[in-house]
Amino acid sequence: MKRLAFIGGTGVYDPGILSGIYSEFIETPFGTVPYEVGKFGTKEVIFMARHGVHHTIPPHKINYKANIYALKMLNVGSIVSTTAVGSLNPEYKPGELVLVDQFIDMTKSRDHTFFDGEFRGVAHVDMTHPYCEQMRSAVLKAGEEKNVKIHKSGTYICTEGPRYETPAEIKAFRLWGADVVGMTNVPECQLAREAEICYCTISMVTNFAAGMIDTPLTHHDVLDCMNKNIESFQKITAEICEIFDPEKDCSCHHAVKDFGGFHL
Ligand code: HPA
Repeated sequence: MKRLAFIGGTGVYDPGILSGIYSEFIETPFGTVPYEVGKFGTKEVIFMARHGVHHTIPPHKINYKANIYALKMLNVGSIVSTTAVGSLNPEYKPGELVLVDQFIDMTKSRDHTFFDGEFRGVAHVDMTHPYCEQMRSAVLKAGEEKNVKIHKSGTYICTEGPRYETPAEIKAFRLWGADVVGMTNVPECQLAREAEICYCTISMVTNFAAGMIDTPLTHHDVLDCMNKNIESFQKITAEICEIFDPEKDCSCHHAVKDFGGFHL
């Protein structure tokens, strides 16, 4: 049976909605991955804290490949990830959620593909819709059901970090059409597609991006905003557990069929 997983980003170190949680480790060819398993009603759900439970792993050092491979090994068919983001769009304000639908990759030094020409060969995966459309619809439905406001679309620009951006960078990224900025969605989103797992991201705006307002950014303020608004994430994720069927077939599950499919 295919399962649903959550990857919690900054400020989300605990699923908050699951019962009977226990911790496990799994060995992958790319490293050992810790994760949690819990129940939502009768459904078993996996949770992974992207930065570690004590926020010890910076964005550029996250073992994205091991994490996604681990979820594939655990028979996960769908992933909902959460991210904290800065906003470049005056309409998207701190404390609000954005269901991103496109990304721009500005990362520099990440192990970003399973298809590196070695044992898995070469594959060029389609990214016309980088985030699973079926999952995006379910998240929007969950938002309506739970009365949580979600901006329906947005372009996520992924920077390398761990520093925040300069105002000049933000000015340039706005010209490119970016709405929100974060440090983790790439390569996570791409690897999930390569591994033929449905993937969507719900971003929480924690601040206006550098230079958009006249105050310096601090990680403390980002965490503070996440903590204050964590309930909206929890309402949505609980509703997703309720309504989303990870068994349902999706084009994401066949993303690399032309290249022989993704095999563990
Ligand atoms: N920039 C990059 N990552 C972030 C930000 C930001 O302004 N806010 C939260 N994560």
